[in-house]
This record gives sequence, C-alpha cells and structure tokens, in this order.
Amino acid sequence: MTVLEVLKAASGHLQKHSSDSARLDAEVLLAQALGMRRLDLYLQFNRPLTDDELTRYRGLIKRRAHGDPVAYLVGHKEFMALDFEVTPAVLVPNPDTEVLVQRAVAIAREADRHLRVADAGTGSGSIAIAIAHYAPQVEVWASDTSREALDVAARNVARHGLVERVHLACGDLLEPLPGTFDLVCANLPYLAPGTDLPREVTAQPSGALFASQNGAALVLRLIQAAPARLNPGGRLLAEIDPAIMSAVSKGAGREFSSQSVLRDLGGHERVVEAWS
Ligand SMILES: C[S@@+](CC[C@H](N)C(=O)[O-])C[C@H]1O[C@@H](n2cnc3c(N)ncnc32)[C@H](O)[C@@H]1O
Repeated sequence: MTVLEVLKAASGHLQKHSSDSARLDAEVLLAQALGMRRLDLYLQFNRPLTDDELTRYRGLIKRRAHGDPVAYLVGHKEFMALDFEVTPAVLVPNPDTEVLVQRAVAIAREADRHLRVADAGTGSGSIAIAIAHYAPQVEVWASDTSREALDVAARNVARHGLVERVHLACGDLLEPLPGTFDLVCANLPYLAPGTDLPREVTAQPSGALFASQNGAALVLRLIQAAPARLNPGGRLLAEIDPAIMSAVSKGAGREFSSQSVLRDLGGHERVVEAWS
C-alpha cells in the first residue's frame, strides 16, 4: 500500500470512531510511524510502505481509534507556539489555557520589572515555561503533587533553556514554594468526579482532572491560601470550568476585594482574575 492509500483507509477508519480531526490525526500518526515531517508526506504520496512501517502505523491508528490522545502517541504537543514533551503522566496542554498565559504575560510586560510568579499544579510545566519564555523579566516557582509529572516538567524546562528562571517543587499548591509572589497562576483539576467524559479526556491522569466539591475544592483552597502569599498589588489567575464559576466567584469575593472573568475563544468563562 502507498502513503496515499493508507492515509485514506486510516482517516475513514478514524472517522467511524468519531475522531473530529480524522484526516489530520491520520497524517500526524503516519508521519510519526515513518519518522518524517507531516508536510513531507505530500511529496511522497506514491511511496509504498514496508511491512514494518505498516505494522507500526496500524498500532498507532488502533490506539487513536480507541481514544488515546494524539499527543500521547507522538509524545509532544504545541502550546503557545512552543513544543512540550507530554506523557500519560501529565495533562495534555489545552489551547483554552492560553487565555491565562496571555493575561499573565500582559501583566508582566505592563509591570516591566522583575516579577515572582507561582504556578500551582504545573503538570508538563506548560504555563510556567510559556510565561517565562514570553516574559523574560519573570522568575517562576511551580508545584505539583505528582513526581512523575514533575519529571516531565523538568525535561521541558531544560529543553526550553529555562533552568535559571523556572523552579520546580513537589507538594500541595503553594506550600512547597518559597517566599511571596506578584502573580499566582493555576490550572488545577476542576471537573466534578463522575462527570461523563470521552476516552480522549479520561486517558489523562485522574489526579489532573477531578476535584471534590463538584470540581471546585482545589481552586477554592488556592483562593484561600493565595492572599497570604501575594505581594501588595499582587494578583491571582485561576483557570476554571464555567460549572464552578459561581462557587469560585463567591470564594474570591470573600478573600479578594475585586475580581473579573476572562472568556476563552469559545466564549466560555475560563479564567478568574482576583486582586486585593
Ligand atoms: C489540570 S492539570 C494542569 C496541568 C498544567 N498546569 C496545564 O495547564 O497543562 C492539574 C495538575 O495539578 C496537579 N495537582 C493536583 N492536585 C494538586 C495539589 N493539591 N497541589 C499541586 N498540584 C496538584 C496534578 O497532578 C496536575 O498535574
């Protein structure tokens, strides 16, 4: 079979398994199986696949049809135009989170001085690394309770040349991080346990997805802990699911004097910004 023939067959198969980006997934996975860039496939449509290549590709397509995220199959994911290693130990960085990072970078650029930033629940390190990359005057301290996730984050920090400005620590929320901060950021688990979710989501670590109190518990604990760790004029940026907006807004109302909400590209309430 040629490149073009296997692509047609694989995208038809993925479409039946309700992948909404079947052709793209088929191409990305074929490029992975052949060890080439996706665009190079277009130059080699008539190239026949060897038995080994076909076997490798069938394995990847089978796992994709079963719902494994493409990012886990290829081992990396782009976020904020930066490439991150991902493994099943970390949440796949989500484009919705770019709202939080863009706001953090805008705050840092406005301040135009050295800023101390915290990232609670860093996972792959995507938030901490993207902020440090786009705001060179920032130093970030990032936590996670998962040592496996922190191993991935450490590799991403090194890969982006940020070991001097992004520091990782294992523990609960802000507890393992030293000092006070100008900005506390977090994309913590915020889904209610028992939520009916596609396999694409449930393939990710449950410790990165779910929190008690219908998903609000961790964000609420961070809201309580943050004021004591913020410098005067400091801010909190927390990603949320719209379902916990009302609980989070009440919590922020108790601990902070002002708050606003930022929406994602789909128009959903996505990030709460709070300050004293
Ligand atoms: C939703 S994932 C987000 C990962 C990353 N910030 C991102 O946006 O891609 C949440 C992360 O928080 C971590 N986590 C869960 N509970 C935590 C806690 N109490 N303190 C610190 N991290 C926690 C999980 O291990 C997971 O890596």
